[in-house]
Formats: sequence, C-alpha cells, structure tokens
Amino acid sequence: MGRMTLELEGVSRRFGGLEALRGITLRVPEGARRAIIGPNGAGKTTLFNVITGELAPSTGRIRLFGRDVTRLAAHRRAAMGLGRTFQITNLFSRLTVEENVLLALQALSPRKYAMVRPLRRDAALLRRARSLLEPAGLWEKHATEVRALSYGEQRQLEVLLALAGRPRVLLLDEPAAGLSPGERREMARFIKGLDASLTILLIEHDMDVAFEVVETITVLHLGSVVAEGSTEAVRADPAVQEIYLGTVEARGAR
Ligand SMILES: Nc1ncnc2c1ncn2[C@@H]1O[C@H](COP(=O)(O)OP(=O)(O)O)[C@@H](O)[C@H]1O
Ligand SMILES: [Mg+2]
Repeated sequence: MGRMTLELEGVSRRFGGLEALRGITLRVPEGARRAIIGPNGAGKTTLFNVITGELAPSTGRIRLFGRDVTRLAAHRRAAMGLGRTFQITNLFSRLTVEENVLLALQALSPRKYAMVRPLRRDAALLRRARSLLEPAGLWEKHATEVRALSYGEQRQLEVLLALAGRPRVLLLDEPAAGLSPGERREMARFIKGLDASLTILLIEHDMDVAFEVVETITVLHLGSVVAEGSTEAVRADPAVQEIYLGTVEARGAR
C-alpha cells in the first residue's frame, strides 16, 4: 500500500446530546479519489470540518501526511497542503471571475492588500490567476462578474479557488449540489481532469457523480461508516440500498 495522505482513528464528534460522528476510522492513500456519501444529516460535512480543523473531534486521532494534526489549527493544516470547498457557495458575486481568483491568491501571500484593484498591478499574481482559469476553460470569462456565470461555472470556480494554494489533498463538499444533470456531468468531468497526484475526498449526496469520479466509496449513516469499498461493491451492498431507498421514499422521489 502507498503512503497515507489522511488517517482517522476512532474519530467522534458530539454536539450536546447528538453524536454526529461515531468512531470513524478512515485511511486514504496518496493520490486516491474517495467519495463520502450518505443521506442528509449523516455527518459528512462534520467529518470534513473535523479533518480541516474547523471543528475539534471529541475523541480520536487525525493524521495528515503521516503527521498527527489532531490539535493543529485549521490554517496550519491548510499550509500543509489541505484544501477544501464549502457546501454553500462562497464567492464574491459582484466581483469578476479574475478578481475572485486574485483575492484567493493574495490571501495566501504574506503581502495583504486592502482592496482588489492594486492586485491587478501584480504581474506574477495575474499570470498565476490565468494559469488556474485557462485549463478549466474559464479564462475567456475572466472579466465577467461572478453573478453572470451559470451556477455550474460558479461551482467550478470555487474548486479552482481551493486549488489556489496548490493543495495536495482536496476536500469537495457537494460540488454538484443544485446543478442540472448536464452541469453535473460537466462537473464530474472537471473533477476527473484534475491533477492525478491530487488526493480527492468528495462528498456527494447522490451517487451518480460519485460513481463517475472515484474508485472507492465510504458510506456514512447516522455518524458511522456503514459500508466501504469499490463503487461496484458499495452499489450492490444491501445495507446501502436500504439506506438510500429508505431515504428517497421518506423524501419523496427526486
Ligand atoms: N455546529 C453544529 N451544532 C449542532 N449540531 C450540528 C452542527 N453541525 C452539524 N450538526 C448536526 O450534526 C448532524 C450531521 O450534520 P452534517 O455533518 O451537516 O451532515 P451531512 O453533511 O451529512 O448532511 C446533523 O444532525 C446536524 O444537525
Ligand atoms: Mg453536508
């Protein structure tokens, strides 16, 4: 087995009387693409928050690139190469595509500007912004205000912003949520096309995008891992079918 990018051992997290995560053990090798799926409230976002350091676990250990980071602050984990996107869109909608990228880039640099405008005078920053946007096909929209992009393009831009810090592991929280079927396929292609050395953890509420992008799936339900394995094995797992069918019936078919 290759080197481990991320290891969780017996990680739990309580919110008062609610045990949102219960004894999660997870090992993600370098370069792996792993989906975390499960119904609403399963604990997927909480798991990401605990991995990134936004939330402390109630019990358990977390190792990143072999180093114990359980008590390390979120910004220190980010500096080690951990990037993430959020379930809710997090862009400046009245700034242009390029300005959003420039802001993400300058947030990483020791020089901080108070405003966007002076960033345009930094040639190295501009080149780097272009190098992020171009492969994604978003350079031609660099001068477009974010609010004028399609929702699918906005969500792709968010992934690009998470790549600004050149992470080695990327956590994507429902990047395809709210997208049309066509946009979902486009997002799946986009994620599949990211650098192969990048380790990716992908939260997906539904399974189609996950099956398209990853080789291994972890299924969370009520804070516990209930299944883990190849996409085929997980799809065939009766416990998983039960959880999904049960959820879909409870919510009404989508
Ligand atoms: N900050 C919080 N305070 C209290 N309860 C929370 C908090 N964050 C999440 N929860 C609860 O923890 C459970 C798991 O939530 P979450 O991780 O957001 O699930 P998912 O992302 O799988 O939909 C839910 O019952 C949710 O209400
Ligand atoms: Mg969530």
